[in-house]
Amino acid sequence: MDPSDGLEGIVAARTILSDVDGEAGRLVIRGHAVEELAAGWTFEAVIGLLWEGFFDGEAPGERLGAARVEVFQEVAALDRELTGRTTVEAVRALMARLADGDNLATGLRLVAAPAVFTAAVVRAKAGDAPVAPDPQLGHAADILRMTRGAPATRAEAEALNAYLVTVSDHGLNASTFAARVVASTQAGLTSAVLAGLSALKGPLHGGAPGPVIAMLDGVHDPREARAWLEAALDRGDRLMGFGHRVYRVRDPRADALKRAVKALGDGSNVLPGRLALAEAVERAALEILRERKPGRSLQTNVELYTALLLEALAFPPDAFTCVFAMGRVPGWIAHAREQVLGGRLIRPASVYVGPRPKVAA
Ligand code: CMC
Repeated sequence: MDPSDGLEGIVAARTILSDVDGEAGRLVIRGHAVEELAAGWTFEAVIGLLWEGFFDGEAPGERLGAARVEVFQEVAALDRELTGRTTVEAVRALMARLADGDNLATGLRLVAAPAVFTAAVVRAKAGDAPVAPDPQLGHAADILRMTRGAPATRAEAEALNAYLVTVSDHGLNASTFAARVVASTQAGLTSAVLAGLSALKGPLHGGAPGPVIAMLDGVHDPREARAWLEAALDRGDRLMGFGHRVYRVRDPRADALKRAVKALGDGSNVLPGRLALAEAVERAALEILRERKPGRSLQTNVELYTALLLEALAFPPDAFTCVFAMGRVPGWIAHAREQVLGGRLIRPASVYVGPRPKVAA
């Protein structure tokens, strides 16, 4: 393989935002371990942490409720044609209506947008009218309320908050790199976030958790896990929720989210037997991947327990990528600002291996 294939191991930015230690299985976000953030920080506080020094103005998280109200007016553009698309395509189309800009207000609208638009799209697909935001509520609680049309329990809001915080930033992953490339041209934050969302939606990145549910439904019985997974690999499929470009050990976010699933309580949200099924699939998958790819340490990534958590919170699998985006937008914006304020135009080189013009003798 050419060493530059997939830019593996190539350093393409200096950042103060997050550090992914793939050998130790550690994720640090602006000086804090992800486990610490997931256990006690609000999503609003993490936005403040990520954006510190990148915008004029204090405490951006406190203005997020007002930003939800502001972007809700765009929901009027959600027509039948858009409702018929996948949730992520519909949400992306609505987000593309937001004006470009580089200030804090633009950034807050972009964080609010996937929350408000995903809720509206999920409801429209079910034939239900949109529910307006409540700016007094915490972001996670309001997302659940807008999606369901009824208040969430405190445990549910805390679980979603823990998820949003856990995925808020993660080094130079594909979507963050895409956002930085666009930001480096000074195109503006909306353009950078749309680039991030477009990269995120692919099944090798943030599109993975939806298919995890299909895998769990397909396996159905823990005793069938090995046979089902073997058959999937024999067909040439990848096992969703496993493997990572950087982690050679278990993704630390997997455990943070497993804890959040368990904290949801007595199992009232989690489908009966679902956690045990996921654990059986995980054990079998790791065993088979060890046997089939002995040279490459393929471990559980964030998406397996993301799928379980978002399912327990009653999001449809088609909306999972958008919930991922709700958490990741603050990270994309912080990277975009860092790139604009301190970086140069990103313009790498390529090696030409095509034909040369014939030179006249
Ligand atoms: N199932 C089966 N085989 C796999 C898997 C998997 N999940 N992951 C990697 N492999 C194999 C792959 O087929 C390849 O084998 P070979 O060398 O024989 O061709 C080898 O392992 C190396 O794969 P790679 O594609 O070079 O590795 P990568 O670092 O480019 O891939 C990945 C990283 C996440 C794209 C990959 O592991 C994958 O496709 N996983 C499944 C999708 C998934 O769960 N994505 C979410 C990633 S975590 C959240 C995020 O940050 O987005």
